[in-house]
Amino acid sequence: MNKSRGHFISFEGGEGAGKSTQSDLLCRRLESLGLKTLTTREPGGSPGAEDIRQLLVSGAVDRWEPLSEALLHNAARHDHLKRTILPALENGTWVVSDRFADSTLAYQGYGQGVDRAKLEQLRALAVGDAMPDLTLILDIPVADGFERTERRPDVTSRYEQMESAMHERLRQGFLAIAAAEPGRCRIVDAAGAAESVHEAIWQSVLERFALESPNSG
Ligand code: TMP
Repeated sequence: MNKSRGHFISFEGGEGAGKSTQSDLLCRRLESLGLKTLTTREPGGSPGAEDIRQLLVSGAVDRWEPLSEALLHNAARHDHLKRTILPALENGTWVVSDRFADSTLAYQGYGQGVDRAKLEQLRALAVGDAMPDLTLILDIPVADGFERTERRPDVTSRYEQMESAMHERLRQGFLAIAAAEPGRCRIVDAAGAAESVHEAIWQSVLERFALESPNSG
């Protein structure tokens, strides 16, 4: 393990899986070990990528062709990576991103039907080998996730208005991604209370990075 470089963790999952709550809880826990952290998100995470986010999450459901949508997510991702994630990793920060490249394969690929080979080409261009060291896939039944999002005060996004069959396909997509890359990905059952989900996540992080928790044992 290179001691001077930070580590890159992504959270993935469908709507209402609790990714942003879990990103925040994980950062607080890492900080309690004296580590520097940065919480960020996609689409977004740099000024330009936040502008692109508005184009993606608002407006009519059929606003974009699925491939155009995949291109926009990758454009945002490249900017986010170059301007936010890589500089932070270089200065030793642990970067925790609420979504990253797997979301495009799950949503635009499995969900919206964009050809996988095209998505892989885009990922090679936008991300190269800068994939996360650990990806935590928060898994929850689609209906349970929607029940949580309905309780939130924020405006419903374009994606939340898409048909439930699309959300079911992308859930299966995330599970397939995890099965294909067991070294990088861990599936976390996100149906329980935030604190117990956090404990499961924390165990995965301790194990993956060989960290020692002052609270363990
Ligand atoms: P959020 O609700 O997690 O903030 O993300 C905004 C929406 O963007 C979410 O519904 C999933 C969607 N999305 C994609 O469709 N493809 C992507 O590559 C990313 C990063 C997000």
